[in-house]
Amino acid sequence: MREYRIAAIPADGIGPEVIAAGLQALETLERRDGGFRLSVTQFDWGSDYYRRTGVMMPADGTDQLKPFDAIFFGAVGAPDVPDHITLWGLRLPICQGFDQYANVRPTKILPGISSPLANVGPGDLDWVIVRENSEGEYAGHGGRAHRGLPEEVATETAIFTRVGVTRIMRYAFALAQARPRKLLTVVTKSNAQRHGMVMWDEIAAEVSKEYPDVTWDKVLVDAMTVRMTLKPQSLDTIVATNLHADILSDLAGALAGSLGVAPTANIDPERRFPSMFEPIHGSAFDITGKGIANPVATFWTAAQMLEHLGEPAAAARLMAAVEKVSGEGIKTPDVGGSATTMEVTEAVCEAIRSSNI
Ligand code: NAI
Ligand code: MG
Repeated sequence: MREYRIAAIPADGIGPEVIAAGLQALETLERRDGGFRLSVTQFDWGSDYYRRTGVMMPADGTDQLKPFDAIFFGAVGAPDVPDHITLWGLRLPICQGFDQYANVRPTKILPGISSPLANVGPGDLDWVIVRENSEGEYAGHGGRAHRGLPEEVATETAIFTRVGVTRIMRYAFALAQARPRKLLTVVTKSNAQRHGMVMWDEIAAEVSKEYPDVTWDKVLVDAMTVRMTLKPQSLDTIVATNLHADILSDLAGALAGSLGVAPTANIDPERRFPSMFEPIHGSAFDITGKGIANPVATFWTAAQMLEHLGEPAAAARLMAAVEKVSGEGIKTPDVGGSATTMEVTEAVCEAIRSSNI
């Protein structure tokens, strides 16, 4: 029996609701498959923990997570705790401490879910955005001087390293190569940004030689927003910097119908540390406790987790179940349905039990 250790960190808001749904689906898959076992440990870190202890997680938090095979994460954020504390106190220390430098965000239009784009349906939009997750514009390099005075100055310096850019390009080219279309679009801004972005382009061209069967092109980030909305069929795998991909993936999520269906994986491709899987959305306190949080983003990220663990059959079975249920119109209100989190989860579990793939 293949066994995997999973650290579940549901955290704040709807995080516990969607993680509970995700674990229920994973348990159902485990039983249906019979070949693997997930041993799940729950961590109560987050904003409640912060109110009790003054920190979002213990000082040795990442040490506690290190022995796990994967981290299944809900969301952080509370109305009464500043966002930079919740984010920098829990999620970012995990991403950075474990050098999860590839942030992978698949997007497609699921059956039964309509895109805000006219005449675009399932099959027209099937992308994976690879976001550089360790440096670039979010390196945290900069400072402020003369605070509050008229001559106040602030800098925010983007850092691009040859090691950082090369490894994310390799990851993106390899991912593009593994997908049927073998098509990669490299997002850049090397017309206006003459240093980091020019090196980014040069390294893309160098790495492309290692993947001769991948067709690739280069698009400026501003033009990319146009291409995503007007020619979604022309894209497949996409690689972009930390900032560019942050923005483009929100656009991708919106074009696919709802934040409630968008998943993400924070991957350490070298597998030195556990990778982390989470829905893209936040803690959504406006709907917390109402039982209507969309669990689909969490199911999808659970499928990414199964792929990463080496259980592609279970991952495919989960996604087939999600697509069957959304196609049948069993959907939460954010995507135009009237089902609850529990009803969608039950339907997905039933589809897993009765699946013949
Ligand atoms: P949000 O993603 O929590 O919510 C935005 C809107 O989308 C809300 O109207 C919400 O109800 C809806 N929504 C989100 N997920 C949904 C789901 N699964 N089902 C149905 N509707 C859903 O973003 P917002 O409101 O800007 O932030 C709330 C808190 O979450 C903040 O404290 C923010 O810092 C935090 N946050 C945390 C993230 C993380 O943990 N990775 C990511 C984004 C925000
Ligand atoms: Mg964002």
